[in-house]
Amino acid sequence: MRITIFGTGYVGLVTGACLADVGHDVLCVDVDADKIARLEAGEIPIFEPGLEELVTTNAAAGRLRFTTDAVSAVEFGTLQFIAVGTPPDEDGSADLQYVLAVAETIGRHMNGFKAVVDKSTVPVGTADRVRETIANVLEERGEALDFEVCSNPEFLKEGAAIEDFTHGARFVVGTDSERVRELMRECYAPYIRLQEKLMFMDVRAAELTKYAANAMLATKISFINEIANLAERLGADVEQVRRGIGSDPRIGYHFIYPGCGYGGSCFPKDVRALTRTAGEVQYQAQLLEAVEGVNHRQKQTLFEKLERAFDGDLAGRTIGLWGLAFKPNTDDMRDAPSRTLMEALWRAGARVQAYDPEAMDECRRLYGERDDLALVDSREAAVQNADALVICTEWKVFRMVDFDWLKQQLGLPVIVDGRNLYNPETVRKAGLLYFAVGRGDSL
Ligand code: UGA
Repeated sequence: MRITIFGTGYVGLVTGACLADVGHDVLCVDVDADKIARLEAGEIPIFEPGLEELVTTNAAAGRLRFTTDAVSAVEFGTLQFIAVGTPPDEDGSADLQYVLAVAETIGRHMNGFKAVVDKSTVPVGTADRVRETIANVLEERGEALDFEVCSNPEFLKEGAAIEDFTHGARFVVGTDSERVRELMRECYAPYIRLQEKLMFMDVRAAELTKYAANAMLATKISFINEIANLAERLGADVEQVRRGIGSDPRIGYHFIYPGCGYGGSCFPKDVRALTRTAGEVQYQAQLLEAVEGVNHRQKQTLFEKLERAFDGDLAGRTIGLWGLAFKPNTDDMRDAPSRTLMEALWRAGARVQAYDPEAMDECRRLYGERDDLALVDSREAAVQNADALVICTEWKVFRMVDFDWLKQQLGLPVIVDGRNLYNPETVRKAGLLYFAVGRGDSL
């Protein structure tokens, strides 16, 4: 099948590479000439396990190509995926200018039937706006060409995107057109051994499914974080509570790990955008507001714990930091709890000495050179002569620690663990003060 994908960001690139890998003929188009040149040279602009190999092998096989030429891209595929960014506006709603610009381009250059597929995370009603945009351009051109617009949201997790694409729970397609259903069946046929994995539904239901899924997951996280904060104050261990509730299949073990708050490019943005969408239809989404509120507060807790450990005076202290990325296996620091922490520490006059296996360049890009930030090249260097250690990301390399050694490194024997990596008893036996999330005597 010939498939065009607009946007070579995270979603577009993963989708393009995976679809090419099962034998489709894929053309990826982007307005960023520099990015396209780098992709053609086999350089992948993002860190995602397995993606580089997938892109280079499929590019070498001629099934995956890159271009800046929108005209030939529109001509190329029967399926035209829109996978461009939808950054948040100042008020939190999704900015659709890039999506609608692609719709305009498709309308301008199409020469026969096209099935336009909204892959970007877009508010309910966007497919209608895409349809309208294309119809208007066709009218201007005086052409009566046939086209359809459907919604096909993605559910990829950063760091596991290829696995999620190939073995995901479902492919959701919102359409009322039999022709589109046929095309999408063909597109995803290599992945669909279980027929029910391909879910057809109404366009608006598909658009809302994407937001509802992320909002539900964010809700689970804020819920357990709230319970963790309570547990901390009540002298209970939230890790035991987590096991206790997770064993009920109606609740389940997934996404109830307490921590220092959710980050990334999806949950914070999507929860805000859905809250905003609710406002537009005169509905106050109280639960979603609370989910965001709890998360905002959770991101402050690492700093608050440090402040308590140092009796409110962090000025002149050096804090060792393990983990900058918003989660392991990515270099993404968007809305990462580490940023809330570092910025609060700097305001308090402390210095940060940080290590992350992947996100060092990203951190440098975000904050540049500054006296109160040292980016060091190992976890050992991050704690050398530090006054305390904070863990923001649960990278595997942080899981095994010689606590006797660690105690010798730290000025004040304090670990603030935002990811509950260790057994509190083991840490405390080594003579360290251990402030985890919702674990008994952390206060
Ligand atoms: C999320 C969803 O999991 C994907 O299904 C969705 O497709 C994607 O957003 C998207 O909309 O594109 P992602 O943001 O890559 O994926 O990362 P997650 O693995 O979901 O983690 C999000 C945040 O929640 C991280 O900061 C993580 O540390 C935190 N988290 C996750 C917890 O604090 N506790 C948990 O139990 C799980």
